[in-house]
This record gives sequence, structure tokens and C-alpha cells, in this order.
Amino acid sequence: MIVAIANQKGGVGKTTTAVNLAAALALRGRRTLLIDLDPQGNSSISFLTHDLIQRSTYDAIADPNVSLADIIQPAPLENLFIAPARIALAKLESRLVGELDAHFKLKDKIAQLAGQFDHIVIDCPPALGLLTVNALVAATHLLIPIQSSYFALEGTDDLLETIEKVRQRPNPALRILGVVITMHDKRTALARDIRDQIQKVFGGKVFKTVISKSVRLEESPAYKESIFTFAPESPGATDYYSLCEEVIERVEARTA
Ligand SMILES: Nc1ncnc2c1ncn2[C@@H]1O[C@H](COP(=O)(O)OP(=O)(O)O)[C@@H](O)[C@H]1O
Ligand SMILES: [Mg+2]
Repeated sequence: MIVAIANQKGGVGKTTTAVNLAAALALRGRRTLLIDLDPQGNSSISFLTHDLIQRSTYDAIADPNVSLADIIQPAPLENLFIAPARIALAKLESRLVGELDAHFKLKDKIAQLAGQFDHIVIDCPPALGLLTVNALVAATHLLIPIQSSYFALEGTDDLLETIEKVRQRPNPALRILGVVITMHDKRTALARDIRDQIQKVFGGKVFKTVISKSVRLEESPAYKESIFTFAPESPGATDYYSLCEEVIERVEARTA
């Protein structure tokens, strides 16, 4: 599975989901690569320190002589590897202007890895530009985190439109793996209403697992750990473990 974690809204839980889903897959013994496609580099910094990040996904995508293998680093967790990002990635769009295969760069670089990883998780930036399109072209699956908030569904039309465009041409095989509700506070009536609304729009695509609001999930990146080693007993660990189970189930049953 190559799964893109995308939603053009910022702060909805993409990075938290990418980091902890990748960690959960690794803990289950799957060799997993986390590709950071956000110039902010939040998922890279969740595991690595800045000084360790010299070459990044920018080099691997923009430079024909650099491969992903050249920039991949082991994360401090067995079976987990990271292709880190740096702010340079923000220049990619202007760098690739006019290149006919601009949307296929990441797909081609992943193809060179030739099955070295069981799973690849791609953390996307909060935009529907060239980087996210590269992820959607390269991916077999898309996972959409939606924040449990009053504005939850705003903008999802644009995302679905982009997915349809990608499916029409470059990647007809792209499947929507599912929608995961994040930062949910099950005590409030509003949160329950929002969940119902999301369910109305996405139906069976919504994962049964809902990620609750948990301060431990906010803290763990500061310690360069996933939630599973940082706070294994926390609700965040239980939720992301259960999301990972559902993800594997859907991929293996090919229901996504
Ligand atoms: N379930 C959660 N509970 C509490 N805080 C969360 C949760 N998920 C994410 N956060 C926090 O919310 C902020 C935005 O999350 P992030 O994963 O970075 O979103 P995105 O990548 O979509 O911008 C971060 O500070 C993160 O630590
Ligand atoms: Mg992010």
C-alpha cells in the first residue's frame, strides 16, 4: 500500500495521522517508509532533529541524480524509515514549471525503490498543488483526516474534485481508503452532530475508529517518539492502533 494522507486544510491531523499510522505499521513488523511532502517538515521533525536533515524530498524529486534511497534515514523505531522534508520543498512548484512529467516525479522515484518497503505513507501539505497531486498520482490509496469541528466539511468538495481529476487520467487505480475523524471530543453534542454529518457525506468510507482529542498526541513529537512508545497507555495510542488494524483490514479485503 502507498497511502497519501491528504486534506488541503491545515491543522486537521494529517501529520499526526501519518506519523502514528506509519509507526503502527512498523510495530506490526511491516517495513514502512514515511515520506514527508510538506515543506514545513513536521513529520520529519517528529522523529529527526534538524541537523540530521541535509538532503530531503526536494532533492529526491527535483534532481534526476538523487534517488529516494539516497535521502532515506532510519527513524528511532524498528522497521520505520523517513524521507524527510525541508522548507526547500516550497520551491518545487516553480522548479518544475514546464516539465511535462511534473506530476509523475514522485511516482517514478518510488518505482525505483522496487518493493523495498511493505508500506509507504505520504504526509501531504495543506494545499491541492503540485506536491499533493504528486502524492495522489503515486498512491494506491488515499486517507482523508477530517477534524471534528464545525467547519469540518468545508473544502471537501475541492478535495474530491481533485481526486476525480487524478482518477480520470494519471491514476485511475487510486482508491479512497477512508475518512478518519480526528480530535474528536465525544462528550459534546456538537461533536456527535459533526460525526453524523461526516457520515452522511462519506457513508461507509468513514472509519469506525475515531481519534479522540488527546494532549499526549500533541506532546509526543517534542520527544521524537510516536505515541506508541511515548504514551502506550494513552487513548491516542489505542485509537491509532485501532485505525491501523482497520486500514490493514480494508487493504487486505480490497474493500477500499
Ligand atoms: N487527536 C488529537 N488530539 C489533540 N491534538 C491533536 C490531535 N491530532 C493532532 N493534534 C494537534 O493538532 C495540531 C495539528 O495537527 P497536525 O497533525 O499537525 O495537522 P496537519 O498536518 O493537518 O496540519 C498539532 O499541534 C497536533 O499536535
Ligand atoms: Mg502537517
